[in-house]
Amino acid sequence: MSKKIKFTNLYKLIPEKKKILKKIDIIIKKSQFIGGDIISSFEKKFSKFVNSKYTVSVGNGTDALEISVASLELKKGSEVIVPVNTWISTAEAVTNNGLKLVFCDINLDNYSLCLKDLKKKINSKTRAIIPVHLYGIPSDMIGLKKICKNKNIKIIEDCAQAHGTRINKKHVGTFGDIGTFSFFPGKNLGGFGDGGAIVTNSKKIYEKCLRYRNHGALKKYDHNFSGRNSRLDCIQAAVLEIKLRSYPNVVKKRNQLANIYFKELSKIKKLDLIKKRKKNIYSFHQFVIRLKNRDKLIKFLKKSNIDTMIHYPYMLNELKFFPSGKNLNNSYKLGKKILSLPISEEHKPSEIYFVSRKIQSFFK
Ligand SMILES: Cc1ncc(COP(=O)(O)O)c(C=O)c1O
Repeated sequence: MSKKIKFTNLYKLIPEKKKILKKIDIIIKKSQFIGGDIISSFEKKFSKFVNSKYTVSVGNGTDALEISVASLELKKGSEVIVPVNTWISTAEAVTNNGLKLVFCDINLDNYSLCLKDLKKKINSKTRAIIPVHLYGIPSDMIGLKKICKNKNIKIIEDCAQAHGTRINKKHVGTFGDIGTFSFFPGKNLGGFGDGGAIVTNSKKIYEKCLRYRNHGALKKYDHNFSGRNSRLDCIQAAVLEIKLRSYPNVVKKRNQLANIYFKELSKIKKLDLIKKRKKNIYSFHQFVIRLKNRDKLIKFLKKSNIDTMIHYPYMLNELKFFPSGKNLNNSYKLGKKILSLPISEEHKPSEIYFVSRKIQSFFK
């Protein structure tokens, strides 16, 4: 196979292009670009998909997190715990709300919060925790909720990478108080631009978030506080509603490809994979492996025209403006060991076999 294996090909990831263009044409003719039934229709469909009472669509996944934290109205000095291996937005949501950011270590079986370390990081000032279902792998929400029980700690689940990820058939984002999503184009469920959503079963939080996204108002000129402007626009909502219909097939295809990697790579002793659990449904936003000679493997695969990426090359405590953290042992220098392999619904099984066999030959 001499063809290039791209990490993703966004153009190929857009099925039903005709349906989408037809819908966009209608929107342009109606000139209904902001608000209205196109937005509420997508919000209803998304609520049904995750099985949550309410969805508030917003401008992007970062705003979804920031607005969610704001909606909890936590006292100044409150501490919020965030895993140290995540995209910067999860931490920004805490600092941009003027709260104290506390980093938690991750466990290497699922790259999410290490519950052992979490117990040590919780104290009387801890008011919220933001587990991240990174790479489409669910955090241990059942274990996390047990730890938080009767402690007056709110849980916001960052599901930016986890559309369709479930534990015991229950969608992530519905275990805690709030779930947040990103519809950035490269996400498993992505729009034609930025987009995000907040899901919750609490009417109080729902109404607060509705107001936050719209200058503190539920309707025109009904401002209760100073909020912001963070709206999903109608074109994005229409694209997402069409893509959502066939999204279960995306999850199926990604699992099919991931299973090839599991089968082919689990034989390699010098490489670590996640530990899959039967009760979970994974959405495999990324397929991440961990190894010592990571940079050598990147070069080796590049020579065979195989693209890879790193999510992420640094842990957030390595960024100077964030706290340096304590006892982050599992995640120490993790950014130098992890590698994301191509996995996307446009990839053919033969391509995944090709990548796997190249990795096998690297270790021979
Ligand atoms: C884990 C995580 N949280 C939050 C975000 C933020 O989403 P957005 O890019 O839509 O603001 C992302 C997106 O990259 C993400 O991966």
